[in-house]
Amino acid sequence: MNPAAPDSFIERFKGLLEPSALMWWAATHYYRVCSEAVFQKGQVLAPIFQTSKLRDEAFGRFWIEFSRPREEAAEPVGSSALIPPLLKTSKGVVLDIGPGTGTQMPLLKGSAITTIYGAEPCTGLHSELRRKAASEGLGSKYHVLPCGVAAEELLPALGTDSPSALAAYDVDPAAGVFDTILCVRVLCSVPAMEKTTRELYSLLKPGGRLLVVEHVVNPWRTAKGSFAARVAQAVYMFLGWRFYIGDCCLDRDTEGALRQAAAVDGGWESVELERHFEWSAMPYISGVLTKKSL
Ligand SMILES: C[S@@+](CC[C@H](N)C(=O)[O-])C[C@H]1O[C@@H](n2cnc3c(N)ncnc32)[C@H](O)[C@@H]1O
Repeated sequence: MNPAAPDSFIERFKGLLEPSALMWWAATHYYRVCSEAVFQKGQVLAPIFQTSKLRDEAFGRFWIEFSRPREEAAEPVGSSALIPPLLKTSKGVVLDIGPGTGTQMPLLKGSAITTIYGAEPCTGLHSELRRKAASEGLGSKYHVLPCGVAAEELLPALGTDSPSALAAYDVDPAAGVFDTILCVRVLCSVPAMEKTTRELYSLLKPGGRLLVVEHVVNPWRTAKGSFAARVAQAVYMFLGWRFYIGDCCLDRDTEGALRQAAAVDGGWESVELERHFEWSAMPYISGVLTKKSL
């Protein structure tokens, strides 16, 4: 996608259609997984009573297929080009929320990083994630946490994997746990975004940084936003985008939630967020939110 607003109608139209191809692709995986359950495994009622398991498996397959060409590409393009400059600034103890297949791992090999925790609830992606960590030479630094980002899941999983990681936090929660938290195309999928962003804020160490690359609701009321793209987002949501694409929502005010997350301490030390592709059905924010030091 062209980061600047495209001149031609065709380019703008393509920006509206982009999610339809992804939705179609993900939906074909879902129906394939359903038909395998029914016709190959004989689980005739699985599409009714095991929907969540089938969706998880289908999303895992879709995301592996979707990620592969991006991992092999020489240069990232479109929204993927926003990620490397940010993630290369990661340091200390890093939490990567929803790492998927580990597409971002090559950006996390700097010596400033001591440990990486990838909190990934989709079990269908874990073997790919572990394989990637080993092939990137991060086997000893990278810990796959089989959980979602909600604190009630994350903290027990972290405590089981690395009890010492919580030592300071258990004595004084203000000490936080992570130096860097990565939110790359994931806040669109978490069940309770406002609660999640507040919890992530509380898990940052003082002076810690939240690095964000997220697609967001189209800011259609602004000069750079697009009413047509906002309508397209609503249409995709109505047609089942969320169901097929791992609970992803196209219409979240992620920037608002992130800014509010630090309200308990009177705000962030600094917020450096930029907006991109505001004319399209997948506009993005990217940047850094830094927590105040003690
Ligand atoms: C669109 S993919 C992005 C993957 C990866 N961050 C990337 O940029 O390649 C969204 C990921 O978030 C994960 N996810 C969904 N709900 C989550 C939750 N509640 N907590 C953590 N991860 C979640 C999904 O399983 C999926 O791997």
